[in-house]
Amino acid sequence: MTAQPSPRGDVAVLVPAAGSGVRLGAGAPKALRSVAGRSLLEHAVDRVLAASSVGFLVIAAPPSDVDSVRSLLPPEVVVVSGGATRQESVARALAEVPERYEIVLVHDAARALAPPSLVDSVAAAVRSGHDAVIPVLPVVDTVKAVDDADLVVGTVDRSALRAVQTPQGFRRAVLAKAHAAAPAGDVSDDAGLVERLGVRVFCVPGSELALKITRPFDLLVAEVLLGSATLRAWGTSAES
Ligand code: CTP
Ligand code: MG
Repeated sequence: MTAQPSPRGDVAVLVPAAGSGVRLGAGAPKALRSVAGRSLLEHAVDRVLAASSVGFLVIAAPPSDVDSVRSLLPPEVVVVSGGATRQESVARALAEVPERYEIVLVHDAARALAPPSLVDSVAAAVRSGHDAVIPVLPVVDTVKAVDDADLVVGTVDRSALRAVQTPQGFRRAVLAKAHAAAPAGDVSDDAGLVERLGVRVFCVPGSELALKITRPFDLLVAEVLLGSATLRAWGTSAES
């Protein structure tokens, strides 16, 4: 597709894509793995650029693949070298965002099928006044707490649990403060860093299409979804 960032978009999106994809198994870095003929990163970028709220996009690429990632993407997409942890990759991408963007979304390349409508709904919730916004889904499975011997120690009340996705949205100053205050490490979720500051995090409905491609089975699911004509029409239009 040929979508370009809307010049009116008031949102900067950071896409950490520098992971190696250990759980997916041998091969290229995960963001460069091919699904339905294109890399996961290209699928992710297509959908982000189709969101009308987006004005700036920066990718944290695997350090050894910065040039090849640049050659895959439209020229207005900024590509930086990622870090050793996701947290570091996000911090490096954040440093590239021009001052004028007050809303910043962080979106994993691994959630390559997240639809444009999800990007726009997270952005809208930040715009409406929330400092931090996450897309969530209810937890469908029964959840047990277990001990080291695999013995169940209790059943968790799932009605208060949510599975968290990306894109996660932030007032830029809040995200910058959270990263500046973060201990070096690998917090997997930017909202987790923001919570440490005592900032309230607001939940909006997530999307099943925003599944995280983590294991080989997920790659198969993505392949099937991308092979469906319904998704091709649905997953990449600004309205979807
Ligand atoms: N990521 C990153 N920099 C890192 C590690 C991860 O930018 N040093 C990115 C990944 O590319 C991915 C997102 O963070 O888009 C979520 O990480 P995950 O799904 O865990 O991907 P990987 O770390 O690549 O996978 P694995 O943990 O199986 O190695
Ligand atoms: Mg990882």
